[in-house]
Amino acid sequence: MHADRIIHEEHRSLAAVLHGMLYLVHAIRDRGIRPDFNVLGAMIYYIDSFAERFHHPKEDEYLFAFLRIRHPNAIPLLDRLQGEHREGAERIRTLEQALARYQQGGIKEFPDFLAAVEDYAEFNLKHMKTEESEILPLARKYLTAEDWDAADAAFAGHTDPMLGIEVGAGFTALFSRIVMLAPPPIGLGPVPPRI
Ligand SMILES: [Fe+2]
Ligand SMILES: [Fe+2]
Repeated sequence: MHADRIIHEEHRSLAAVLHGMLYLVHAIRDRGIRPDFNVLGAMIYYIDSFAERFHHPKEDEYLFAFLRIRHPNAIPLLDRLQGEHREGAERIRTLEQALARYQQGGIKEFPDFLAAVEDYAEFNLKHMKTEESEILPLARKYLTAEDWDAADAAFAGHTDPMLGIEVGAGFTALFSRIVMLAPPPIGLGPVPPRI
């Protein structure tokens, strides 16, 4: 079951960036460090493209689609999670706009950006936790070997070029760039000055 492992790995990458972004906004709030808009922008771009355009479509088209057929009792929960995939795309726009206002408008716009980051992180971390604690155990129980073969191929990047290995490698490179740019302890970048 490669798909199972890959979903956990993709969740860990997303959670690392979400926790990194939370760490940065709290350091700005609590310790007055200067915001690095390159890092914050790269993090939001990563979450948007990786979660919304790479990770969620694979869940919708394979894992969720098979589970709907094999275990119809899960349909209400699957509907909710698929609704959250659509809602996540809208929430990311709110986050991007809050970042743009903070970058252009300065410190007076920071509280709204902080709230947008906290909202989005809480929403997405909860979403991933539900998938891991409720959906994956049901999938392990009810999906057939053929379902797993198809899901494994899709998650390993062999089915759709848009969800494939080359696109995945691009996200790995972007994740590495975030790590190189972000300040310690979340990354290897320079220590930011205080405002
Ligand atoms: Fe999801
Ligand atoms: Fe997920």
